[in-house]
Amino acid sequence: MNTNIAASHPPVSGVDNTYVHTLDRQYVFHSWAQQGSLDPMVIAGAEGCRVWDYVGRSYLDFSSQLVNTNIGHQHPKVVSAIQAQAANLCTIAPAHANLARGEAAKRIIAKAPAGFSKVFFTNAGADANENAIRMARLYTGRSKILSAYRSYHGNTGSAIAATGDWRRVPNEYASGHVHFFNPYLYRSEFWARNEEEECERALQHLRRVIECEGANAVAAILLETIPGTAGVLLPPKAYLQGVRKLADEFGIVLILDEVMAGFGRTGRWFAFEHYDMAPDLIVFAKGVNSGYVPAGGVIISEPISRYFDDHFLSAV
Ligand SMILES: Cc1ncc(COP(=O)(O)O)c(C=O)c1O
Repeated sequence: MNTNIAASHPPVSGVDNTYVHTLDRQYVFHSWAQQGSLDPMVIAGAEGCRVWDYVGRSYLDFSSQLVNTNIGHQHPKVVSAIQAQAANLCTIAPAHANLARGEAAKRIIAKAPAGFSKVFFTNAGADANENAIRMARLYTGRSKILSAYRSYHGNTGSAIAATGDWRRVPNEYASGHVHFFNPYLYRSEFWARNEEEECERALQHLRRVIECEGANAVAAILLETIPGTAGVLLPPKAYLQGVRKLADEFGIVLILDEVMAGFGRTGRWFAFEHYDMAPDLIVFAKGVNSGYVPAGGVIISEPISRYFDDHFLSAV
């Protein structure tokens, strides 16, 4: 973050940074951290692309708060819509019909490619991945989930087991997860000299993993369209189309995790639109509302939606 000590925001009276920092260190448990060595930055408020602390020090928020705030902080239209909804109805059980949920689903479907028909809402990206994985397992009657080593899919049971990065290793309690190498020319696992070679060899590697795991056992291939936490790794132009072909050839559900890349982050509604292909399930969160309130979900293609017309979405 770029510090701009010439404060552009007035200090917040009555509270100081030290009190908030002490409060946090005494009572708050943070994710993905050894608690004893934490020294969190104190943030009092935000607007647009800036955040500030209690003494008025202002910072440019290059992190977008874990790549959430696609429309910036505190967009007045979204804030007032949240306030209006809170004044009207704060909670509703899953079984009921509700105007806000129905409208949200309809508008999300309008942004999805042709062939998608329903939205399953969750609280965040991790549980959206959990549910996409369950849908794929129930729909195919198969159990294995293939995902990439360079990936992050969330901090819950199957989502962290599907994740490829080092945080998976001490958390691998969910079963049926297999990993493969996704293309990354800069650190090629395939001795590739150019993008075409990297693409072709990564696809051949994925084909071999499917064959060796038993194609009839593979429920889904789960990929971040553009791996984000692993380093914003743009896949070779033809890679995702190649994965789509492999999924079709072997009857495997293709899940694209658009939690970080979706809802405008890459300049399109969904990042896969850059690659002239579409998955069977789209997982979203973060950018859908810039993280203003917890929300995520799965956008479901027509055949999988129809399957659940007379099947329960339950654990396998
Ligand atoms: C690609 C991807 N999938 C899933 C998640 C998990 O989302 P959440 O933190 O909302 O559970 C993240 C979070 O960073 C992510 O980047």
